Amino acid sequence: MTRSSTSEQTSGPTPSTWVAVCQRAELGVERGIAALVDGQQMALFRLRDDSVHAVQQRDPFSGANVMSRGIVGTRQGEPTVAGPMYKQVFSLRTGACLERGSYEPVDDSADLRTWDVQVLDGVVHVRAPHNRSVEDVKS
Ligand code: FES
Repeated sequence: MTRSSTSEQTSGPTPSTWVAVCQRAELGVERGIAALVDGQQMALFRLRDDSVHAVQQRDPFSGANVMSRGIVGTRQGEPTVAGPMYKQVFSLRTGACLERGSYEPVDDSADLRTWDVQVLDGVVHVRAPHNRSVEDVKS
């Protein structure tokens, strides 16, 4: 499933804009979905604690847009997603590649880009650039 959203244009010096993507209830627990927001492909994951995380859909190690099909897990308390191609493990909070095996990324970075996420009235919103706060993660 792919969701599509475009941010409303706001006037004034707003540094970044929250964009509504989907209802949290549409997200299966620990099952990713792909979303397209302002032309950016992202993968959204809802965890068992109902937090929602957004990372880039492109797998840095294969170049394929497949991260939403990754396997959710945890590593020392950190929520993670494993790439469906070569099983690299990434933090869902920071996007950092935690385990790359013997592979080199085809992209400049082995890490996933992340977006801030907040859930308001059951609606998942994302925001770029990355500037995560605890409140964003907890909602
Ligand atoms: S749609 Fe943006 S706050 Fe609810």
